[in-house]
This record gives sequence, C-alpha cells and structure tokens, in this order.
Amino acid sequence: MAGLFGLLAPVCLVFHAAKRLPSVFWKTCVESHSLYQWDRPWLPYLCGMKFFIDTANLAQIQEAHDLGILDGVTTNPSLMAKEGIVGDAAVLQHYKTICEMVDGDVSAEVISTDFAGMVAEGEKLAALHKNIVVKVPMIKEGIKAIAHFTKAGIRTNCTLVFSAGQAILAAKAGATYLSPFIGRLDDINWDGMQLIEDISDIYTIQGFQTQILAASVRTPLHIVQAAKAGADVVTCPLSAITGLLKHPLTDNGLAQFLADHAKANQG
Ligand code: E4P
Repeated sequence: MAGLFGLLAPVCLVFHAAKRLPSVFWKTCVESHSLYQWDRPWLPYLCGMKFFIDTANLAQIQEAHDLGILDGVTTNPSLMAKEGIVGDAAVLQHYKTICEMVDGDVSAEVISTDFAGMVAEGEKLAALHKNIVVKVPMIKEGIKAIAHFTKAGIRTNCTLVFSAGQAILAAKAGATYLSPFIGRLDDINWDGMQLIEDISDIYTIQGFQTQILAASVRTPLHIVQAAKAGADVVTCPLSAITGLLKHPLTDNGLAQFLADHAKANQG
C-alpha cells in the first residue's frame, strides 16, 4: 500500500502545493515515508514555513530583514501604540514605511468593530501598498467584512482566534491568513499548540486554502512546535527568532575551533 502512495506522491505534491488536496491522502503519503526519501531537496521550497516578525519597531524589523529570512510583518494596535505611532496620518505612514523596508506581507489591523467601518478602513489600508493584508478581528461583523474583502480581492488576516470553530468560520469567509494566539492560550493553561495542530488537520482534510499564521509566539520553542504542528507562517518577536540561533555547544565548539586555529598559526 505504501508503494502505491509513493507512486502517487508527485501528483499529491502538486495538489498539496496548490492547497487543493481534499483529504488525508497527502498525510498518508508523507507518513508512509516514501515521499521523504526522494523529494527532500525541493519539498521545503513548496511547503516551508514563512517567518513574519510581530512588531511595529522599525529597528527590529530591519534587524530581522538583515538576517535574510524575513517573509513579512504583523502589527496590531497595541504594538503601534507601544512605538508611539498615534493619529491616522502617522499610522498610515508607518505602514507605508514598513512596506518599503520588507518585500512581504504586512498585516495592518482595523480599529472599527462594525461592518461599514471595517470595510472603509480596510479599503484605505489596502490602497496603501500591494503587500498590505487587512487584519480583522474574529467577531460577527469581522466575518462579514472578511467575506466582503474576499469578494473584492483584498487579502485578510483574521486575528484573535482561539478555537477550531472560529478557524472554520474564517476559512469559509475566505481569510487569507488565520491568526490563532498560542501564547495567550498557554497563559490561561490551555494548549495553544494543540489548536494549531487541530486547525492544520481540519484545513488539510477540508482543503481550506487559508494559511495558518501562528501568533502570540513567545519563545524559540514555540516556533519549533508550530512548525511541527503544521503552521504555514509563524509571527514572533525578534527575541524568539534570534533565540533559534542559540546552543551552548555551538558557542563552545566555535570558541575551540578559533582557539585551535590561533594556536596552530601563532608566531
Ligand atoms: C499578531 O498578529 C498578534 O497580534 C500578536 O502575535 C499577539 O501577541 P501577544 O499575545 O504576545 O500580544
């Protein structure tokens, strides 16, 4: 049986990449391991998790960008306020500046909580730059707004997601991204990472095209676990990204290499 799935793997891979595989077929292929053996060189290019930075701080965005691994930026009203960005003009200008720094999606959140207000705000934000993704809260009016933006060709990020039911609704409305908040669930002794896994399973089984953007990430371990759980994107503070670099054996090993080199080359 595993052999059969192995033979079908190329077809499955194309459908999976297009997010159109309507069943557990893909998972069976991967789990049979037949796929792993020969497609490793190019699978990551089709399916690799994207890295967004979760901040409105320009210096931190620049530092992550300079690492060469940054795919986008997420902001929220709290992060904008933290940077002292106040007033409509300043907020819009700040989003524009971020879009000019990073060639990737930039989530800009609406403040309105009614349908008409969200639509007006979202259209204004989307007109700023082609990379703007309108961030909309998971409320009734928000779902209506997401459905509206989907029809209008405006990309959205459904934020403040804490359950699989909410994830299904956002995907039905056509959200481009879905932001389940891992850290805030962990804060109330709920399993944030299990939610990512559940949504990933549901979206795979149902063939939903909405990308899972693991948010409220606090630690490097969250990033690793989100990758395992099936997140399409992870958005995190700079400290969590740079935390991935750290291992004492790397530091000790490098110090030893340099010391040995210096000793051998002295005089
Ligand atoms: C990003 O889109 C979210 O707004 C953000 O990750 C929330 O993170 P927090 O829970 O650390 O505030």
